[in-house]
Amino acid sequence: MNFRLFLILLACGWALGAADGPCKPDVAALKHKYVRPTAVPFPVENAFNKDREILGRMLFFDPRLSAMGTVSCASCHNPAFGWDDGLPHSASRPTARRTPSIVNVAWGQRFFWDGRAASLEEQALGPIQNENEMNLPLEKMVAVVRGIEGYQALFARAYPREPVSEKTVAKALATFERTIVSAQAPFDRWVAGDGQAISASAQRGFVLFNGKAACAPCHAGWEFTDHDFHDIGTVDLDPGRGKYLPAENMQHAFKTPGLRNVATRTAYMHDGSQRTLEAVIEYYDGGGMCLRPSLSPRIHNLQLSGGEKRDLLDFLLTLTSDDAKVEIPNLPRR
Ligand code: HEC
Ligand code: HEC
Repeated sequence: MNFRLFLILLACGWALGAADGPCKPDVAALKHKYVRPTAVPFPVENAFNKDREILGRMLFFDPRLSAMGTVSCASCHNPAFGWDDGLPHSASRPTARRTPSIVNVAWGQRFFWDGRAASLEEQALGPIQNENEMNLPLEKMVAVVRGIEGYQALFARAYPREPVSEKTVAKALATFERTIVSAQAPFDRWVAGDGQAISASAQRGFVLFNGKAACAPCHAGWEFTDHDFHDIGTVDLDPGRGKYLPAENMQHAFKTPGLRNVATRTAYMHDGSQRTLEAVIEYYDGGGMCLRPSLSPRIHNLQLSGGEKRDLLDFLLTLTSDDAKVEIPNLPRR
């Protein structure tokens, strides 16, 4: 090693140990990476308007979109549970994946734990047909919706130049889903400049999240996801993204979940295998369970102290927002 570089590294190492050295993390610069966007993105081919949101909200809560007339999207993505079902495994398939919350899906890039849907419009038709979910073939679903007279005018207002079809149903559902955005959390107020908005412990946790605990490269940006897929070493035979992509690092890889409102979940991970945030932190500290070739190189023993784990937890708790009361629509009876 070049001698000057050696001296610089030595000085840096010393400064890190010292209270206010030049290598102290630049918290202001870190905060800057977490500034909330000012507008929700909508695709040009399904631009936002209020009529589309109103229609989509009704379809989302309407159980008539299922074979038995008893299951709606909201049965599993229940606003009372932060838009999931409050269960460690989806009720439809008790051994299968956990129902993810759908907050902030407007920013999503691929959908489902394994990323098999490329847009919300594509995603929405999956559960309607899925025999374990709503189990209604699309042509029947369209017939049901066309048969409800009250929907005619709503579709005409929302999509005036398009017929009532599986396409417009999907577009309306997707529009409504894009409006489900987590509101300001104490963390946002801190990022915006209120130094008292989160505790000193949570502030240390934020630095750990971006430093020693190395969570930030995957849980990146204001939503806390890189929108990518990783094997973090959970004990499970589910191939995840590997079912679609042969690359070694995609085997057992799942979508990085956003961490907004994370404290409100009932269980964590695609398989609901961790029950508390404390357990999740212990899990990462231990460096994962299944040490197979696909394991992300970012997962390793972190050697966090008890105090550091508490700080990290306190930080995660600051991501819970005071979301506005959800409006449950009145549905057309006939
Ligand atoms: C029986 C429960 C159930 C019903 C009903 C249901 N979902 Fe889901 N939803 C799930 C589960 C489980 C997953 C994860 C499946 C997977 O990743 O393989 C999921 C995934 C999703 C995702 C992907 C989220 C992400 O971050 O990738 C969206 C969006 C979604 N559902 C929307 C809907 C809509 C819209 C409806 C109604 C048309 C609906 N769901 C009905 C259980 C359900
Ligand atoms: C290599 C990328 C990566 C790193 C590093 C990483 N995560 Fe994750 N995280 C993921 C993925 C992928 C999942 C989903 C895994 C699964 O379901 O099997 C996940 C899941 C989670 C969950 C569960 C969320 C939910 O809704 O189920 C929490 C909480 C979490 N991570 C927090 C952290 C913390 C805290 C750190 C740092 C100690 C961290 N993560 C480091 C990629 C990562």
